Amino acid sequence: PAGQMIDPFGRAVTYLRVSVTDRCDFRCVYCMAEHMTFLPKKEILTLEELDRVCKAFMRKGVRKIRLTGGEPLVRRNIMTLIRSLGDEVKAGNLDELTLTTNGSQLARFADELYEAGVRRINVSLDTRDEEKFAEITRWGRLNQVMEGLAAAKRAGLQVKINTVALKGTNESEIPALIDWAHGEGYDITLIETMPLGDIDGDRTDQYLPLSKVRAELEERWTLSDIPYKTGGPARYVEVKETGGRLGFITPLTHNFCESCNRVRLTCTGQLFMCLGQDDDKDLRAKVRASEGDELLEAAIDEAISRKPKGHNFVIDRAHKAPAVKRHMSLTGG
Ligand code: GTP
Ligand code: 5AD
Ligand code: SF4
Repeated sequence: PAGQMIDPFGRAVTYLRVSVTDRCDFRCVYCMAEHMTFLPKKEILTLEELDRVCKAFMRKGVRKIRLTGGEPLVRRNIMTLIRSLGDEVKAGNLDELTLTTNGSQLARFADELYEAGVRRINVSLDTRDEEKFAEITRWGRLNQVMEGLAAAKRAGLQVKINTVALKGTNESEIPALIDWAHGEGYDITLIETMPLGDIDGDRTDQYLPLSKVRAELEERWTLSDIPYKTGGPARYVEVKETGGRLGFITPLTHNFCESCNRVRLTCTGQLFMCLGQDDDKDLRAKVRASEGDELLEAAIDEAISRKPKGHNFVIDRAHKAPAVKRHMSLTGG
């Protein structure tokens, strides 16, 4: 039987986010600089090692695993890991295996994902305007993502759209994005930009508080709070006029750390106990030190006993440097 991981603040850790690669085929302006140095291959856990770590976490009580990146679907042979973890869903050892993806590779992978046991995916999409899309992602093609979304729908995958709210960029398009997503049968979640990693440019210029967005949406629509829960940080409302679900992820305007249930593993085997803190635990050394998992499991316990209370993100002109130096793509959001 699975154990339980309880952190110093009484929170049970049941959700593991795994960044399977730091690489991505896009360079979103709030996520990366245009020129990035990616990790050398020898630093990166093999798919077998990632699988081993995930299973150790499952024995310790993890019930939901989300693969992220970078872009998870650009990692070579990633389906091997997805199929192995998907078998755990089929066996009832995991409630959910899911992915956060930019959608660029979905046309190729949607059917395989469904067959492997994935039922729901989150697709990042900040605009449906081709030019703006190319501007935000620095060179992405919107069409590729649209084709990926269509393939996901055909495959039977439930889709949630993730939209980072960006002042002056997609701000005016937010209602139209919600309308479109709900028309397609997708949930959509708005996200406040977070100060992680050096990007070319000033985050204060991008930051759009969702409290403001929500107030504007309420002039147009009736939003009612609903108890919908996915285990993630979003608070959901139903939009009466569209009949769809809309989520808000608001680390800056409404901190949700008190209900945090997750930790994050990087592709190099570092465990981060909080997205917004630097403290980490090297699990790679433990994985590589022996074939048994005792060291690994002990290291996980020790790390959970250090899980911090929360982040200390701020975005304003007085805080030019990012709160956390590493990029979002290393810890996978
Ligand atoms: P669901 O299963 O759909 O609830 O997914 P999720 O919201 O947990 O995951 P997703 O990968 O879609 O993340 C959406 C956004 O939420 C990303 O921008 C993440 O960085 C952010 N996010 C997820 N967990 C945390 C967290 O613990 N703290 C903060 N500050 N942001 C988080
Ligand atoms: N702030 C908020 N969200 C971000 N994402 C990437 N970088 C940031 C940031 N600095 C989003 C992506 C994706 C999710 C995993 O995180 O758009 O939807
Ligand atoms: Fe790639 Fe996602 Fe970062 Fe955009 S936000 S550069 S798609 S990892």
